[in-house]
Amino acid sequence: MKNVEIKKVGLEDLAKLQAISRQTFHETFASLNSAENMLAYLEASFSLEKLGLEIHESDFYFAMDGNEPVAYLKVNLAPAQTELQETGGLEIERIYVLKSQQGKGYGSALFDLALEMAAEKGAGYIWLGVWEKNVAAIEFYTKKGMEIFDSHVFTLGNEEQLDFLMRRPLYLSPETAKTNGQSLRKN
Ligand SMILES: CC(C)(COP(=O)(O)OP(=O)(O)OC[C@H]1O[C@@H](n2cnc3c(N)ncnc32)[C@H](O)[C@@H]1OP(=O)(O)O)[C@@H](O)C(=O)NCCC(=O)NCCS
Repeated sequence: MKNVEIKKVGLEDLAKLQAISRQTFHETFASLNSAENMLAYLEASFSLEKLGLEIHESDFYFAMDGNEPVAYLKVNLAPAQTELQETGGLEIERIYVLKSQQGKGYGSALFDLALEMAAEKGAGYIWLGVWEKNVAAIEFYTKKGMEIFDSHVFTLGNEEQLDFLMRRPLYLSPETAKTNGQSLRKN
């Protein structure tokens, strides 16, 4: 596994968090959504005010390349989780890598960090929501031992979209780990 420098995001990093949030969301979803819906979402969800509040409720981390963030992670513990506000779960709400930096291990490093945080906080499983059309991310998560267990509706602008809910226990059973070619804890 690539040795990735991780930095916890603080208030002083808000401008960089906004920039990478907007860029990665746009890179990932612009081709599949209307320009109006994208703009509305980027404006509303990644304003400095909103991100500033979220930094107090959730944990954000950058994966760094030198002085610049190239990927970020947002995780929620109860009660900040968007659903399933159970104390036993940790939610990966966002894991985004700049398009130019994908496939280099940054996503894996952030996923591993979420597993470590879950272990530290005594959570028994991690979960997330992913758009049904985001096939690449679903493949990535499946490789990490996540399985679809439910779905929910996510609103992007004026469109309702279906998100799959995926989860995995912190410790994979030996059978599952073997099927996925993984170690029991880490991927
Ligand atoms: C999905 C994402 C987080 C993966 O991060 P990454 O840094 O590109 O992935 P890694 O380099 O750590 O790859 C880890 C494994 O996943 C696999 N993988 C990564 N992207 C994949 C893709 N598009 N399709 C299939 N497999 C993929 C890799 O092949 C690798 O497998 P290996 O361990 O067997 O070699 C990243 O590509 C991304 O940010 N995508 C756009 C944003 C997004 O969709 N985020 C999720 C929103 S819910």
